[in-house]
Amino acid sequence: MQRFHVTTFGCQMNVHDSERIKGMLEAAGMGEAPDSEQANVLVFNTCTIRERADDRLIQALNVARGRKEREPDLQIVVAGCWAESVRDDIFRDFPWVDAAVGPGRIGALRDVMNADATSERGAFGSFDDFAADLPKRRERSHQAWLQLSMGCNSVCSYCIVPSVRGRERSRNVREILAEANQLASEGVTEVVLLGQNVNSYGRDLAPDARCTFAELLRAIDAIDGIDRIRFMSPHPKDMRGDVIAAMAESPSVCNQLHLPLQSGSSRILKRMRRTYDSERYLELVARVREAMPDVALTTDIIVGFPGETEEDFQETLRVYDEAAFDHAYTFIYSARNGTEAAGFDEQLPDDLKHERLGRLVDLVQDHAARRNTALIGSIQEVLSEGPSRKDPEICRGKTRGNKTTLFTPAAPVGTVVSVRIEDSTSQTLRGQVVSAVTV
Ligand code: SAH
Ligand code: SF4
Ligand code: F3S
Repeated sequence: MQRFHVTTFGCQMNVHDSERIKGMLEAAGMGEAPDSEQANVLVFNTCTIRERADDRLIQALNVARGRKEREPDLQIVVAGCWAESVRDDIFRDFPWVDAAVGPGRIGALRDVMNADATSERGAFGSFDDFAADLPKRRERSHQAWLQLSMGCNSVCSYCIVPSVRGRERSRNVREILAEANQLASEGVTEVVLLGQNVNSYGRDLAPDARCTFAELLRAIDAIDGIDRIRFMSPHPKDMRGDVIAAMAESPSVCNQLHLPLQSGSSRILKRMRRTYDSERYLELVARVREAMPDVALTTDIIVGFPGETEEDFQETLRVYDEAAFDHAYTFIYSARNGTEAAGFDEQLPDDLKHERLGRLVDLVQDHAARRNTALIGSIQEVLSEGPSRKDPEICRGKTRGNKTTLFTPAAPVGTVVSVRIEDSTSQTLRGQVVSAVTV
């Protein structure tokens, strides 16, 4: 029997795409190998967001090449955004790769894997294949991804995503709600809505099928059994009053928001083509906090964008302080081929970028520690993810604000418990169960 192993790089989109890849391979009669060593089909689902993502993947492909020299029957398949970015060159530059698909063509995976001398080993572009109805394999029985849209219509000057995932296409609302109901009937209690820009959902739908993101949040909230709704990533430009109201008024929507800032300098934001300035972003944060005082707010920030001065960077620190985020993903700017910003003058030297990142990370940790300390003494509703990695006696789980919490006594995976928070670090909360809420 053929046994596959999928290695996933990149974001939640790819994690979700990997579920489809696994589902499709299983539907084709293959089984998942317990580890890559025991697999005879290696699938790499790839990312190309930063240069480092490319480097890691190329390293992994080189290891696979060594194995293929010893085991010529090994099949090597590459999917995802990096595959799309190199397209057919992949077979010239990495001749040991047998088949490849871009993120819009996952549905063609079996065809390219079965290709013979007369058919194509690669399928790219043509982002019309929604692939949402392909078989899927979920890792956790109580949690699921739910895809709202594909692609992105923004033109952020640093970003390669629009060129590898195509223009934005929203899924039909009936299809989304049918999937949400199906998930609920299978016992899923938490869904994470996915899209490159979730809150522009629906703009491209035909007038008779139109639905906004806010309406969709309310409709999913109304489904029995789904108790936690999260989404990522919204764009600040589309975070309007109706979305904030839907979040605040829907009991199942978690008190959590990941709202990418990218830079605190309005001058840099303009060059990034983000279409908001720091003032508008901070006003938005104030409105969100007013509607949801206990919201946990996280963000993405890029340091070292071309032309970023010390003053620009200071603005980022200032806005970060004022927004008082719970956490942030921080990135060093990486020039991507074909993006507008890669052509800008004034690319900054690496040591300066690293030095700024270090200062930003200190501030991020400082706020994270403070925000978590403020929760000591509170009671949090925690969804158990089972025993912690280090100690089977201690369980880990997530609060509604998406904070990792370690607690005792243990509670089975998927159950919800009330935990009194007794201690915290910048990364985790710790506490004792005071009562089980639901099973
Ligand atoms: N569509 C989502 C996610 C995009 S990728 C959004 O807009 O929020 C995730 C993050 O990677 C981005 O938010 C950005 O902070 C970072 N990123 C994207 N391109 C980058 C680049 N060229 N260099 C460094 N970080 C980048
Ligand atoms: Fe990239 Fe901007 Fe689209 Fe996000 S919104 S995927 S950062 S172009
Ligand atoms: Fe995601 Fe990376 Fe593609 S961040 S959209 S897998 S380039």
